[in-house]
Amino acid sequence: MLDGKRILLIIGGGIAAYKSLELARLIRRRNGEVRAILTKAGQEFVTPLSVGGLTHDKVYTDLFDLTAEADMGHIQLSRDADLLVVSPATADLMAKIAQGRADDMASTALLATDKPVLIAPAMNVRMWEHPATQRNLAQLIADGVSVVGPREGSMACGEFGPGRLAEPEDILAAIEQQLGGSGVLAGRRAIVTAGPTHEPIDPVRYIANRSSGKQGYAIAQALAQLGAETHLVSGPTSLADPRGVRVTRVETAREMLAATQACLPADVAVCAAAVADWRADTSTNSKLKKDGTGAVPPLALIENPDILATLSSAGPDRPRLVIGFAAETDDVVAHATAKRQRKGCDWIVANDVSPGTGIMGGDSNTVHLISASGTENWAPMPKAQVATQLAARVADALGAMS
Ligand code: CTP
Repeated sequence: MLDGKRILLIIGGGIAAYKSLELARLIRRRNGEVRAILTKAGQEFVTPLSVGGLTHDKVYTDLFDLTAEADMGHIQLSRDADLLVVSPATADLMAKIAQGRADDMASTALLATDKPVLIAPAMNVRMWEHPATQRNLAQLIADGVSVVGPREGSMACGEFGPGRLAEPEDILAAIEQQLGGSGVLAGRRAIVTAGPTHEPIDPVRYIANRSSGKQGYAIAQALAQLGAETHLVSGPTSLADPRGVRVTRVETAREMLAATQACLPADVAVCAAAVADWRADTSTNSKLKKDGTGAVPPLALIENPDILATLSSAGPDRPRLVIGFAAETDDVVAHATAKRQRKGCDWIVANDVSPGTGIMGGDSNTVHLISASGTENWAPMPKAQVATQLAARVADALGAMS
């Protein structure tokens, strides 16, 4: 139930705008209060009259509407809300929020707020997949915005793919989780590892991998949003620190292990880092040089410590819930199930990182959650949503243990 929680619903201009009428109705049915801003483009798809009929309130449309400014004002509108929900979030609206523009009532309210923001994107599949939209999405996630959807399916424009607005029931669930769920991990301590590690060969060369860190950063953000005191130990990435998360940046696997152990005790550890399995046996302080004979220097490797396995067998210091990731290219579930047992962790989040899936470095993920009680296959979704769902599952599991 939403019990008096106040939602500011911003309706963008897309064919899916009509679904936001149903969303407004569902919010009120769950005893939430909903006030709506309808963008100029949104008014081409639904009318202020129909929106107002469902919110039982005035509908805000114009930044320079004197009556609205005298009554309420755009600052007050966002101040009075517990959560801002953008549905449908069009490519244009996402770009505006990502850039911090404020040229209409919706974008101004979004810039003026310090409240959580949830967006439900909906657009043509090519617009969604365009690098500009994906860049904006990454920026929004880095800024702490939560995302629900889009779903995959056939679209009004006749194409097929991701871009359909999440169903109103799913947006409602995300709203309830964001509001009702906030604080469910208060008092809990979480450790997340993320990103690649760099293993030096000499002062200018290193062994690395393609991990971007996006999934781990999103998980740290989602755990912090649920109130956990979250510590992120990150290998080298180009990502900004997630909001409300303590970040320690490291380079090598051995540094990552030491930094992770320094964060104990913890209730939950999520090892999302793509730790290099091997490092150069002898890394030299002088740059390796060609000697002109065509001879290549030998590169002997030795195994790095396994952070996930070390945490899983940490005795009295073992976090109550230890979660690993398995990046596989074939027999994903079978390999990941074996990996869960080998490493001694409680859950494994498995994903297929074969070339062509676009998962490594991309913004979407298709995962399987493997635990002692079996395997759940999750639908393809943005990494931010995988993170939100996983954080909710962590909250449930820790709640059930206490
Ligand atoms: N992991 C770790 N320390 C390592 C290697 C891996 O903590 N030295 C963790 C990763 O963070 C991930 C899990 O172990 O949670 C599985 O990582 P993955 O690379 O898929 O497995 P590996 O152990 O490297 O096994 P393999 O490469 O043989 O599949």
